[in-house]
Amino acid sequence: MSRILVTGGAGYIGSHTVVELIGEGYEVVIIDDLSNSQADVIDHIEEITGKRVPLHVFDLCDKSRLDQFFGSEGSLDGIIHFAAKKAVGESVEKPLLYYHVNILSLINLLKAQKEYDIPNFVFSSSCTVYGQPDKLPVSEETPRKDAESPYGNTKKISEDIIRDFARVNDDKRTIALRYFNPVGAHESGLIGELPSGIPNNLMPFISQTAIGLRDQLKVFGGDYPTKDGSAVRDYIHVVDLAKAHVVSMQRLIEDQQKSNYEFFNLGTGSGLTVLEVIRAFEEVNDVKIKYEIVDRRAGDVVQIYADTAYANDELGWRTERDLDDMVRTAWKWEQHLAQMRE
Ligand code: NAD
Ligand code: WQD
Repeated sequence: MSRILVTGGAGYIGSHTVVELIGEGYEVVIIDDLSNSQADVIDHIEEITGKRVPLHVFDLCDKSRLDQFFGSEGSLDGIIHFAAKKAVGESVEKPLLYYHVNILSLINLLKAQKEYDIPNFVFSSSCTVYGQPDKLPVSEETPRKDAESPYGNTKKISEDIIRDFARVNDDKRTIALRYFNPVGAHESGLIGELPSGIPNNLMPFISQTAIGLRDQLKVFGGDYPTKDGSAVRDYIHVVDLAKAHVVSMQRLIEDQQKSNYEFFNLGTGSGLTVLEVIRAFEEVNDVKIKYEIVDRRAGDVVQIYADTAYANDELGWRTERDLDDMVRTAWKWEQHLAQMRE
């Protein structure tokens, strides 16, 4: 049985990936400092899978603590590295914090990968590396652009670090996955996204408005050159995204790569406007979302969606969940959170 370290495994995408890994027979161990998640996610993963996953709570920037972990952990077949700070706006306010955490934790892990001879590495990248692309849909050939934020830049720099590391370490294999917009939650309603404070992202803001935590949603921009004037994104269900990590790790373990550093876009291939997402949420869940259209948000791209051909063909992976599944499970999760607050 392959053993995988999942960093950030208590977080949103990490926890869903842990569930999928267990479902495919992997043994999992998590490192997470719980800076943006809660320890009880381990209970919920156990409820879903019947397996208790070991959680090691510490900051990946602490290399001596990481050495202690690898020294006592026994052999590992791979690492899936989710742990990072991810709030775009906060990264503009606190650039050094973002460069410190996101870059140092990656470097510490790559050093450990070499020192403890762990062959396989999957990295969480982002479509943010493309900025506003000149041509749509975005394929892996699309050139990356200057990042719009320090957060985006940490993803670009991280990809470069991994590429350079792979060049001189033939025996180490890496896949970077560029996510488009992950939304939704596990069917059980037991795990999902846990935004701290006021959500920056669209889906949690919609569901918090629906449940009454927010008065109304602001739709940023109604005058974009799109079909209804609101901005277009490629929303992907988090469970589909999680499954792509399992497939990627399997590809590494079976040594099926074309080169020892590969990267893939993970999206559905379809662009949806903000207003389409709101409408679907209202219809599928039979709720009303109060919203108003306001000015564009600084730094937002007009539209972006993925060309999925390369990931579909090479990974043999495709998305199976549609917009209805995304808004339905997002609402189920929001209701679970409301119950927890009671
Ligand atoms: P998340 O915040 O829910 O999960 C990240 C987890 O990492 C959290 O549990 C947090 O406590 C932990 N963590 C953060 N810094 C750490 C550190 N120094 N040491 C140990 N643990 C630490 O975020 P997510 O949405 O699940 O994102 C996972 C990854 O995917 C991140 O790298 C993020 O940048 C990337 N990503 C996310 C999105 C998105 O929209 N959610 C899109 C593209 C890429
Ligand atoms: C989606 C659309 C908003 C909130 C960000 C990061 C990106 C990636 C994913 C990590 C946009 C609109 C939103 C609201 C709104 N993360 N919106 N009202 O901006 O595509 O990407 O998360 O890598 O790097 O930049 O996602 O969910 O914030 O916004 O109208 O209250 O919803 O303007 O058009 P975004 P998002």
